[in-house]
Amino acid sequence: MERRQFLRNSAITGAAFAFSGAKGWAKSADAHIDILIDEPKGEISPNIYGQFTEHIGGVIYDGVWVGEKSKIPNRYGIRSELIDKMKQIHVPIIRWPGGCFADSYDWKDGIGPASKRPRRTNFWEGDHDAIRLHEKGPQIFEPNEFGTDEFMRFCRLTQAQPYLAANLRSLPALDLDHWVEYCNSPAGSTTLADVRASGGFPEPFNVRYWGIGNESWGCGGNFTPEEYASEFRRYTTWIPGYGLDLQLIGSGPNDNDIDWTHRFFEQIYSDHAYHNRSFTGWSVHHYASDLSRGRISKGDRKGDALQFDSVDWYELLRQCDLTEQIIQDQWTAMGQYDTDHHVKLVVDEYGPWYREGTELDPTHIFGQQITMRDALATALTLDIFNRHSEKVSIATCAQLINNLNALFLAHEDRFFATPNFHVFAMYAAHQGGEALRTVFSAPDVRYMRDGKSAQFWGLNGSASRKGQVVTLTIVNPDLSKATETQIALGGARIIRADGTVLAAADMHAHNTFDRPNAVTTANLAVAINGEQLSVTLPPASVTKLTVTLG
Ligand code: AHR
Repeated sequence: MERRQFLRNSAITGAAFAFSGAKGWAKSADAHIDILIDEPKGEISPNIYGQFTEHIGGVIYDGVWVGEKSKIPNRYGIRSELIDKMKQIHVPIIRWPGGCFADSYDWKDGIGPASKRPRRTNFWEGDHDAIRLHEKGPQIFEPNEFGTDEFMRFCRLTQAQPYLAANLRSLPALDLDHWVEYCNSPAGSTTLADVRASGGFPEPFNVRYWGIGNESWGCGGNFTPEEYASEFRRYTTWIPGYGLDLQLIGSGPNDNDIDWTHRFFEQIYSDHAYHNRSFTGWSVHHYASDLSRGRISKGDRKGDALQFDSVDWYELLRQCDLTEQIIQDQWTAMGQYDTDHHVKLVVDEYGPWYREGTELDPTHIFGQQITMRDALATALTLDIFNRHSEKVSIATCAQLINNLNALFLAHEDRFFATPNFHVFAMYAAHQGGEALRTVFSAPDVRYMRDGKSAQFWGLNGSASRKGQVVTLTIVNPDLSKATETQIALGGARIIRADGTVLAAADMHAHNTFDRPNAVTTANLAVAINGEQLSVTLPPASVTKLTVTLG
């Protein structure tokens, strides 16, 4: 390809720069990546690689929990294959029990002997879409077989931190105190500690992360931001600490609703009685869901998980890419009140959301198939989190299994990993690394959208460093073109470079029970040319390079 001058935005600074093509690159290429090895930006919180599990459809029952008496291999009732796969990708934190379910959940229903626990109507029973599933299975009723003890067991088995979402809409504030007491009070100290011990857990669970309501602008209470701020103050003042540095997470905006954030923060920070250093997180939810491009005049505006064309491909990626703008805008708004940025962003629900029809079982509410398109959407989102590591402290993908942007799909004794799992496996190397500033220079992808010319960035990604090892992850969204790419690391001596790639000939490629490895990773050749690397990034791919420096 002819060397061209082009202009694009630096993903890190937002500043425009010109690439002249004459920066001492070894030979011509389609694209260039500069890893600014001397510009570390702070640690990438491992917790941005978290997962979300809600009591909805097939996530807990049929997904995580199969029961101790099941013939499906399990540990303490939890699906063994899932545990093993989660350990492989080092899931650092798991959010539970919702979602919207959280604000209808009484944690007391899920403790004590399983045989004595009440059966309840699950929140999603009332959901308009779910209601017709009434006859199709028990999943929309809540047996409470999986409660706090089982969740903590799940976290221990997978070596993840628990992140509990507390009910602010339908339980009093004292219940939050008591849930904290149940989880964290020392052995033998309180009646609730004794109840915990009788279930086999004398030692405290030491839960640090607590969400205070979920989507409080919607299913979590339909509050105004001012009302929610007042409730948030009430629920979070004097929660017992038991020596832990509790991390309290406020229910932030839907997408980029700046008004919600301004009005909440104004209320919280204008009240001088509220100085709660435990308030450290502000949640954001961003789903890529309106994919109709105006083609559907009424009804479901969501796109299809499997039936899509090349325009849908780029438009879905574009919607996920909005995460970067949301992070920047929300951060700016929060900083007007929280001037030292004590409160960080917690993106605890994200991913593409398609219309129903590809779920593996009718009881799997919001279950959907996961293709290469979703793998790229997930990868570009994780790269955004890495690039904004000083702003984002936690992120949990919605959801872990059998729901929305799942890493795993399962039904009864069958189980497989989706392409998203492979993305998380590749990106795990960034956890706890030092984020490095990177500059991607690549021509935009051009395509026709409804008769008009449209474009999307040509390459993007992120880099981090642990000692002498640099990890670079790259998304090539171009459906038709492999991109020859040169990579410079500021003159550092390169000893070794290894590549791993996730790519498929068909953009619709996905795994199934019959073909669980139809989409999987492969090695990718990387050439070392003096102080630079050369690699050919296949079309529609996610790549990880592991570079060892001298
Ligand atoms: O993830 C599914 C649902 O989406 C969650 O329960 C809710 O928080 C969001 O609206």
